[in-house]
Amino acid sequence: MPEGLLQSQAGFVHRLAGSMPVIQVENLHKTYDLGEVQVHALRGISLEVYPGEFVAIMGASGSGKSTFMNLIGCLDRPTRGRYLLDGQDVSEFSKIELAHIRNRKIGFVFQGFNLLSRTSALENVELPMIYSGISHQDRIERAREALRSVGLEGREEHHPSQLSGGQQQRVAIARALVNHPSLVVADEPTGNLDSRTSVEIMDIFQRLNAEQNITVLLVTHEPDIARYAKRIVLFRDGKIRRDSVVEDRLDASQTLLDLPAVEDDDEEA
Ligand SMILES: Nc1ncnc2c1ncn2[C@@H]1O[C@H](COP(=O)(O)OP(=O)(O)O)[C@@H](O)[C@H]1O
Ligand SMILES: [Mg+2]
Repeated sequence: MPEGLLQSQAGFVHRLAGSMPVIQVENLHKTYDLGEVQVHALRGISLEVYPGEFVAIMGASGSGKSTFMNLIGCLDRPTRGRYLLDGQDVSEFSKIELAHIRNRKIGFVFQGFNLLSRTSALENVELPMIYSGISHQDRIERAREALRSVGLEGREEHHPSQLSGGQQQRVAIARALVNHPSLVVADEPTGNLDSRTSVEIMDIFQRLNAEQNITVLLVTHEPDIARYAKRIVLFRDGKIRRDSVVEDRLDASQTLLDLPAVEDDDEEA
């Protein structure tokens, strides 16, 4: 079946159910003005993502993936075009308004984990709640619960240097989830991890997506990683080149069963 047809059918089903897209972008442009030259990083992106989708963004280096994620994550503003997040037009928001909506609605996971190094796992996960008016006791409880949900019970007091790369990324995922965001955006979250650990991280994303209906938007340049998503959007030269449903989707928990076990490095910590 043609990919476009499958995709529009998927969209049609969602619209019938009356659900609103988490992400709706129309003709999004981003031009970096470097004085002498202008870099047209995005040249008219239109895309809808519905609640519970799991989308992998792929494309060569320089194709505009990170620029797109920065706009979706409310870290930057488009030069032109519209972006509705949960139905709210944020394209014209000020920096302060963007910071507010970002804190409430979006969880971030980065390639380099971006944890505070002299701070425990628990405190790292508490951080996004500091400005949410949640009591200290509730913050601790929610941070513990988020760490439990990524399999890190018992590691609350460890500092990043006392955790493996995979464990640090799980702390970052817990931090991304703790404010119950509408959307988790992850830019190359497995880029610094070995292949087994990468599948473990994809297992966590698949579980969160399946069990809690969390919408995931993930950038990867690895085709094997993209096959854990439900949908792949391919960027080229700042435009969407292809948008397709993953028909041979991989199940990370199954892949892990088939992979040879490795030495448990947990106890080094
Ligand atoms: N802050 C910036 N200033 C100027 N040019 C940028 C900036 N960020 C990205 N670019 C340029 O925009 C284009 C897209 O970059 P990027 O979004 O980082 O692509 P990708 O993540 O797919 O590698 C590239 O040509 C890059 O050099
Ligand atoms: Mg990038």
